[in-house]
Amino acid sequence: MTARTTAPPELTVTDVTVRFAGLTALDAVSFTVAPGSVHALIGPNGAGKSTCFNVLSGLCRPATGTVRLGDADLTRLAPHRIAALGVARTFQNIVTTQGTVADNLMLGRHVLSRAGFAAGALRLPHARREQRAHLDRAREIAGLTGLAAHFDSPVALLSYGDRKRVEFARALCLEPSVLLLDEPVAGMNAAERARTVEVVHAVRAELGLSVVLVEHDMGLVMRLADEVTVLDFGRAIAHGTPDEVRRDPEVLRAYLGTGAEGEEDAA
Ligand SMILES: Nc1ncnc2c1ncn2[C@@H]1O[C@H](COP(=O)(O)OP(=O)(O)OP(=O)(O)O)[C@@H](O)[C@H]1O
Ligand SMILES: [Mg+2]
Repeated sequence: MTARTTAPPELTVTDVTVRFAGLTALDAVSFTVAPGSVHALIGPNGAGKSTCFNVLSGLCRPATGTVRLGDADLTRLAPHRIAALGVARTFQNIVTTQGTVADNLMLGRHVLSRAGFAAGALRLPHARREQRAHLDRAREIAGLTGLAAHFDSPVALLSYGDRKRVEFARALCLEPSVLLLDEPVAGMNAAERARTVEVVHAVRAELGLSVVLVEHDMGLVMRLADEVTVLDFGRAIAHGTPDEVRRDPEVLRAYLGTGAEGEEDAA
């Protein structure tokens, strides 16, 4: 497996505000994802987590604020330009039901394909070589995400947990420096969750990329995240290590709706 030789660039979100009609979904939100770290974005339902991912991936343009990846300004770029600069994402709800695992991973690779579809269709030798290299890499990524045994299986026949991981693997096929995971274990059983935690650890160790994680499973956030940003009604109310934020009175208030100092289990 090819590990990244240089650290991924820092991802910096500065004063991002998003409004939908009368609602401020994100209100001057700032945070920084350190190179190679797992950064969790948590908060109650409707806090603005997915909206934040939509801004990071170019699906939503903020009213104000900036998003930078190293020296590159991502703020108003189209989604495919942002993906090409190294930010890949998964979606909160599964979208993949068609084709085999290999087909889905190769969709991720096509964005990187230099030979292009025309040369591929004409079966030119360099295009065939490139295609083979992409297939080999897709197979490696399937191995890393625990999907090797299912590489040629139709996605529709896989378990729910495996299908969620196909999404994850497809995003990795873009060779991102930053991977955005929106609720990667939502709806999974305990065994599938544990498997996904292992896969995130393996991906990070092997590929050295940064991960931004939106997740409601606090046990998983505590185990995976180096840093946490807490959103509540569109505002970033806390930043810190998992241990720091779970003790933060404002965070406890946001989750419990009361001033509940000392009730640490709630976070
Ligand atoms: N396209 C949109 N148009 C109008 N309002 C929207 C739109 N997208 C999101 N919202 C609103 O913005 C707020 C933030 O939504 P968002 O989906 O970002 O929350 P979330 O933190 O991801 O919640 P969840 O944990 O339920 O996934 C919510 O009040 C939501 O209803
Ligand atoms: Mg969401």
